[in-house]
Amino acid sequence: MAQKLYDRTAEDLGNVVGLEHVNVTIPDQGLASEFYLSGLGLTRDPYMFPGTNNMWVNVGNSQFHLPSRGPQVLRGHVGLVVPSLEELCERLNEVKPQLADTKFDCKRHNRYVEATCPWGNKFRLYEPDIERFGAINLGMPYVEFTVPEGTAEGIARFYRELFYTPAQVKENGEGRAAHVCVGPRQELIFRETDRKLPEYDGHHLQVYVQEFSGPHDELDKRGLVTEESDQYQYRFQDIVCLDTGKCLFTIEHEVRSCTHPLHNRKMVNRNPHQNNRHYRLGADEWDWTLPRSTQRLDPPQPAPEPTTPLARRRAARMAAV
Ligand SMILES: [Fe+2]
Repeated sequence: MAQKLYDRTAEDLGNVVGLEHVNVTIPDQGLASEFYLSGLGLTRDPYMFPGTNNMWVNVGNSQFHLPSRGPQVLRGHVGLVVPSLEELCERLNEVKPQLADTKFDCKRHNRYVEATCPWGNKFRLYEPDIERFGAINLGMPYVEFTVPEGTAEGIARFYRELFYTPAQVKENGEGRAAHVCVGPRQELIFRETDRKLPEYDGHHLQVYVQEFSGPHDELDKRGLVTEESDQYQYRFQDIVCLDTGKCLFTIEHEVRSCTHPLHNRKMVNRNPHQNNRHYRLGADEWDWTLPRSTQRLDPPQPAPEPTTPLARRRAARMAAV
């Protein structure tokens, strides 16, 4: 029998293979540019929506979509990885005067910087951590939502059973939360609170799924599909208890197939250090990836059994043939 040199299960993904964008509408593209581009150091997508009706902002392999309309505020926060917190704080300090008289704020904590956009959206920005966030120096490893008490188990079950993706409830100093795998080292986190939540205002997130039709059928059976967008995309917004049908939390999901025309699109990222006074030729683009180690097991060990819901479904199908 071949020696087990690698933990193959460490590379398993569920059926949701990528969290790509978060969409919040914004009332002022100038202020949004100051915050997302000059402050956070992110990159305006150069190809899509070049005018003032919308702005796509790239962060590694993910994006923010910011159409021009009244402000929407996500009920939680977005976790981002940036190359350096020190440089981030310098940039945020520089945009303070332009963002005076808005909800803009930034605070340095031990392991992250908390930043608030001019309309109240909250971000936690971390430095690269391969163990926690994967081999990236820039990206969107998670979106965390604040949800009502007693809903985390039901939310985890919803994603496990309807989307065939790993989801489990964990507890830490900040409380009890459902952690849902939505890509390589990417999670949706649903953290319980006893505080009253603001009304849902229509913002959304977008994920890519490998098996596209199965989750659609399950959602459709329960009357949960809210939009049949096109051949490659549908939407739903209520996460429900699978026993009672009761809505546990509302957040619109734009669900795309991996055959969607925009899947695997190369995102342009800029080097935020570049400026006209200290310009380096050939250094305009930013590589958001970090080198990955081979992860070879030392000493070699028996590999554990695959445990993802998708792997179990595949095994069950194979057994039924
Ligand atoms: Fe979208």
